[in-house]
Amino acid sequence: MLWYSMIIKRSFVIKATDPLNYMELAHQISLQKKHAWDLDDDIPWQLGVDQSKYLLPLDDQSIAFPGASAEQQLALSQFMGLVVNATISEMEDALPKLKYSGWQKMIDEYPVGPEIVELGEMFFEEEAKHARAFGKYLDIFCTTLGVEREELDGLLPKAFGSNFQRAITQNAYNGGHAFWWVVASVEEVSISIYHQIFRHRPHIDPLYYQLHRRHLEEESRHANYAFLMLNLINQKPSGFRAVMHRKADFIISQLAGAPWVITEMYKFFEVKKLKHKHPLFEVLASCIPLYEKMSKPELIRRMFIAAPYVSWLLNPQWRKLHVQIAREHGAIVPPFPKPIVSPVLIPLVK
Ligand SMILES: [Fe+2]
Ligand SMILES: [Fe+2]
Repeated sequence: MLWYSMIIKRSFVIKATDPLNYMELAHQISLQKKHAWDLDDDIPWQLGVDQSKYLLPLDDQSIAFPGASAEQQLALSQFMGLVVNATISEMEDALPKLKYSGWQKMIDEYPVGPEIVELGEMFFEEEAKHARAFGKYLDIFCTTLGVEREELDGLLPKAFGSNFQRAITQNAYNGGHAFWWVVASVEEVSISIYHQIFRHRPHIDPLYYQLHRRHLEEESRHANYAFLMLNLINQKPSGFRAVMHRKADFIISQLAGAPWVITEMYKFFEVKKLKHKHPLFEVLASCIPLYEKMSKPELIRRMFIAAPYVSWLLNPQWRKLHVQIAREHGAIVPPFPKPIVSPVLIPLVK
């Protein structure tokens, strides 16, 4: 049959978001199993970290450090690269910890086909593996610099035990699904981050690029899972409480996530404590006056509208698919400010 052969011939990502389309779901399971990568063997860890390379391209204001020198820009690019790795690692490590409240409880309440259960098990396993992979890069970076992981961790985001994690867990126990809106958001942002790295890959640390390339491969195969769960919720009969959650959970995910992102970014200022440990931290500490020169309104504008990576998390307007599906689900989506795509300054074009 034509429609069947069309499905079989599809070799990459299936955007199955219909929880009742069992044939597509079964095909997705086989794709995920066939192409799964091995954490130790399929990432070239032996490359180590090339300290002369950038980790992430920066915009013309170096996120929030306008006027940074070339040396400061390189250090800020590397710091933002580590923040992104730690954020993905923390968020994806938090997912398996929320497996019962965010997923198992829902699967028990809404009986589903075995394909959705198997895809869910694979989703949580893949995210746990990704968290370990990003953590391993951070370990290698520390070894290269000659600092302890605990010292670097003092500058980087932590999700476990945060108000953010508590709010999302409580929402799930109350019958809400903010968890899946958070997952959908992280999935979309991590794919956008890879696109940014890919465009500038000759200037990016080769190990960092390969790590994010591998991550993208599995993200693109399972990126639909959060939407699959949200669609499943939408197809179930609903009472008053369920309708309220459908309207409010998107905003709850945003209100829980945004303060966490902002609070964790402020850990940057702890860099002063490490400035005698390695020249990278000394250069980063020298960037603080650039940040302090910015006015508060300009800082807020940059964080929500223009600064790459940070505003991508804080402002849902950057996440087209996320917002589109939220609207389709009847969720309240407040009018967030329109984002601005800033020119990329790094890598410097000479
Ligand atoms: Fe992931
Ligand atoms: Fe993912």
